[in-house]
Amino acid sequence: MVEDPKRKALSVLPVLLLFSSAQAGTIDRFSGHHCTDFQTANFLRGIRLKVQFLLFTSLSPSCGKLIFADGGIKNSSFNSSLETKIIIHGFRALGTKPSWIEGLVHAILHTSQVNVIAVDWVYGSTAAYPAAVENGIQLALSISQFISKLLALGVSGTSIHIIGVSLGAHVGGLVGHFHGGQLGRITGLDPAGPKYTRASHEERLDPGDALFVEAIHTDADNFGIRIPVGHIDYFVNGGKDQPGCPPISAGYKYLICDHMRAVELYVSALKHSCPILAFPCSSHQDFLNGRCLDCVDPFLFSCPRIGLLEQAGVNMRKLPKEVKVYLMTSPSAPFCVHHSLVEFHLQKKRNRVTSIEITFHSNSTKDTAKITIPKHQEMGKRLLAHRVPLCQINSVSLKYLSKNQFWGKDESFIVGKFCAAPLPLDSNRTTSCLPWNLSLPSNTDISYELPTACA
Ligand SMILES: *[C@@H]1O[C@H](CO)[C@@H](O)[C@H](O)[C@H]1NC(C)=O
Ligand SMILES: *[C@@H]1O[C@H](CO)[C@@H](O)[C@H](O)[C@H]1NC(C)=O
Ligand SMILES: *[C@@H]1O[C@H](CO)[C@@H](O)[C@H](O)[C@H]1NC(C)=O
Ligand SMILES: *[C@@H]1O[C@H](CO)[C@@H](O)[C@H](O)[C@H]1NC(C)=O
Ligand SMILES: *[C@@H]1O[C@H](CO)[C@@H](O)[C@H](O)[C@H]1NC(C)=O
Repeated sequence: MVEDPKRKALSVLPVLLLFSSAQAGTIDRFSGHHCTDFQTANFLRGIRLKVQFLLFTSLSPSCGKLIFADGGIKNSSFNSSLETKIIIHGFRALGTKPSWIEGLVHAILHTSQVNVIAVDWVYGSTAAYPAAVENGIQLALSISQFISKLLALGVSGTSIHIIGVSLGAHVGGLVGHFHGGQLGRITGLDPAGPKYTRASHEERLDPGDALFVEAIHTDADNFGIRIPVGHIDYFVNGGKDQPGCPPISAGYKYLICDHMRAVELYVSALKHSCPILAFPCSSHQDFLNGRCLDCVDPFLFSCPRIGLLEQAGVNMRKLPKEVKVYLMTSPSAPFCVHHSLVEFHLQKKRNRVTSIEITFHSNSTKDTAKITIPKHQEMGKRLLAHRVPLCQINSVSLKYLSKNQFWGKDESFIVGKFCAAPLPLDSNRTTSCLPWNLSLPSNTDISYELPTACA
């Protein structure tokens, strides 16, 4: 077995730990209230939990107000007629504040009038990962008690949405479990894999933990979980390796890049209007090979969308469970792409594999995919991810990739038909084809105008 480089690097992480424990309070310049920041722990203190609940509202999205569980909620700027988002971070190797927390809080408050509560359990989440996992149970109890106090104030369970990152996703699941699965929503951002993949439903996030449970998977081969844990499970770019993540030589950045992409993607989905849609499919390969083109089964025509739409925009009274949905993204924010099916039909079948490189050009973008037509077959198809809508694609270039091998020269050109269709293919959108049989000389880019009109 080949040793996993990420795991190996993780095992030496404690050696790299550096600590600081400075923590300053600030005064919010709008309200004059005292602002509280996350704590900073060192790993010797990892056994103690020291949970803090910090409230952020749209009036002061940068100023966390420390809420004391007893009596203090009523006297805070918490508004019980609004929805409440509770953010739970995960393992903090360095005992520091999560760098993404402000971005996530701002993104949520940018889109909606809600109460945002960030759970600071930095103390209990540092030191060794297994100890943090153990602490998760006690943490879930504290959060559950906190939520019970909210419910006692007249907050409805369905208005509570837990957003848990990594280990925090499973803590959220446990909190949901303690509330009988009756809280509104849980979003798991790359729910942790280690120690959870073979755990029971009670111990990990599962669809029974809230009325709607969703998970975004971006590092299923390392820190993330590879099994579906929600009603809807997004496997982004297959759920394992993310485009734009740096190479192994980049050290710690490489270690967490795939894992943290779930948070970046979620924040980006809240801040940008471009829809991040996903499509139900049984595997990433089937998705890439154009075998899953719509959301008819099981979602009755509504494709799930990453973000805050109710039930992810899926319009069904009772959701099916553990549905794996797939999508591609671009390497950097805002990550959203449009997916199109591209097809090439050969005029006559060949007795060898045919590869054709397809490139969509717009004024500002260039996106590529490769169609492979198996030997003795007439047609090949593939999904192409492009950053602007199909109607803004000015031209498509096709390149027949011939291979001359020592036992025989490949044909110097192929003839056939090219077609493209935007996903989902379940509406009235139809396939548009270049209106003639194309002749493609070997290893030469040939450009054509793509006849698609903006709707
Ligand atoms: C509520 O807050 C005000 C001002 O921040 C403070 O004077 C008062 O004692 C608080 N009441 C309770 C019950 O905590
Ligand atoms: C709470 O939110 C509701 C709905 O937006 C609003 O009408 C009300 O004024 C808010 N209450 C307070 C005390 O801010
Ligand atoms: C294109 O190819 C198809 C399949 O061989 C053939 O039936 C059709 O006549 C061709 N059309 C043109 C315009 O050459
Ligand atoms: C692309 O550039 C052309 C020429 O500059 C312009 O007419 C067209 O509107 C541009 N299209 C888009 C989608 O920006
Ligand atoms: C398809 O087109 C028809 C007529 O233009 C329209 O009534 C219908 O709503 C469309 N269906 C979808 C799924 O877009």
